[in-house]
Amino acid sequence: MEFDIAVLPGDGIGPEVITQAVKVLQVVGEKFGHKFHFHAGLVGGSAIDKQGMALSEETLKMCKQCDAVLFGAVGGPKWDNLQAKVHPEDGLLALRKELGLFANLRPVKVFPMLVNSTTLKPEVIEDVDLVIVRELTGGLYFGQPKKRWQTPEGRQAVDTLFYSEGEIERILRVGFELARSRSKKLISVDKANILESSRLWRQIAIELSAEYPDVELQHMLVDACAMRLIQRPADLDVMVMENMFGDILTDEASMLAGSMGMLPSASLAGIPKGKAFGMYEPIHGSAPRRAGKNMANPIATILSGAMMLRYSLGLESEAQAVENAVLAVLEEGYRTYDIMEEGKLRTGTSEMGDLITERIKC
Ligand code: IPM
Ligand code: MN
Repeated sequence: MEFDIAVLPGDGIGPEVITQAVKVLQVVGEKFGHKFHFHAGLVGGSAIDKQGMALSEETLKMCKQCDAVLFGAVGGPKWDNLQAKVHPEDGLLALRKELGLFANLRPVKVFPMLVNSTTLKPEVIEDVDLVIVRELTGGLYFGQPKKRWQTPEGRQAVDTLFYSEGEIERILRVGFELARSRSKKLISVDKANILESSRLWRQIAIELSAEYPDVELQHMLVDACAMRLIQRPADLDVMVMENMFGDILTDEASMLAGSMGMLPSASLAGIPKGKAFGMYEPIHGSAPRRAGKNMANPIATILSGAMMLRYSLGLESEAQAVENAVLAVLEEGYRTYDIMEEGKLRTGTSEMGDLITERIKC
C-alpha cells in the first residue's frame, strides 16, 4: 500500500529524532512492501524564522493532504521572549485545533529492563502499563475569554475552562473504546467537587456508561489521581481527562518510565477503531541543550511512528515489528544517555536508530 506522511521536525533535537523515525519507517516499508511518501514541512521556531509564523497555511495544507503527521518538537531559548507576538508552541496548538486532533493518547509502559533507571522504587513501577487519554482541543488552552487587562487596582488576566457536551462526549467515547480493548476499566478524572465543567463531565460519563455495560467506570478527582500515579501506578489502566489535567499528569506519569525519551503519543481526529487521521510525536520537548550532539533518545519518536502505523495506517503487524525491535535492542543492553546505567552500552541518537532498523530487517 502507499501512504503520504507529513514530517514536521521542528526545533532543537526534533530533526535528529525524526530522522531516526523516518529511517525506521522506510525499512518497515521495504520489509512489508509499502511505499511511504514523506513530505517535509516547517513548524515552530524554524517556521517563525523562515516564514514569519509558527504554522503557515502551506504546512497546514500539506498536513491535511496526508494520511498522518509525524512531529518532532518545537521551541527553544531563541524564541522564548514572553513579550513576543508569536511563540513556537502556537504552531503546535494551531495544528491540534486545525486538524481536529481532540484525542491525545499517551501510553506509559515501563520496560522491564529499565526499572532501575527511574527515581522511583522498582517494585512500585514494575508492571506499569497505562494510557492517559487527554482532551486536546478544548478547556483552558482554547476557552474564551483569554486575555489580560489593566485596572486601577493593577493588572488582571483570565483563562476560561469551557467544554461543550459534544466535546466531552467524544473524548469519553475514546476512553470507553480504549478501555474496552484493554482491561475494561475506565477512570474518568475530574474535579467535580469544585468545577462546574467537571460536574458536567462526570454526568456525561455516567450517562455514556450505559452504552458500555462491559466497561467498569470509576471517577477519580485529579488531585487524588496525581497521588495514585506514584503510589500504586500498576493498578491504573485507561484514564481520561480534560486538556490541562492531562498536560500535568502526563509529565508526572512519564517519570514512571524513567525518561521522557521513551514515551510516544498519538493525537487523533477520531475514535481509535479502524483508521483515524492523527499526528504522532514524542512527549518530550525540543531539549535545546542536547541539540546537534547526536545524544537524544530517538525511541519516543520511533515508538510514535509505531503508533502511526497502528492508528492511522491500520498496519498492526508493522507497528508490532517496530515495538519488538525496540525491546530487543534494549534487551541487548544498548542505552542512550538518558537511560544509561552502569554496565550498559552507551549509544548516540543515530546508532540507536541503526540498531532498531537492523532488528526490523532480520
Ligand atoms: C505537551 C506540551 C504542550 C502542551 C506545549 C508545548 C504547548 O507541553 O504536548 O504536553 O502544553 O500541550
Ligand atoms: Mn506538556
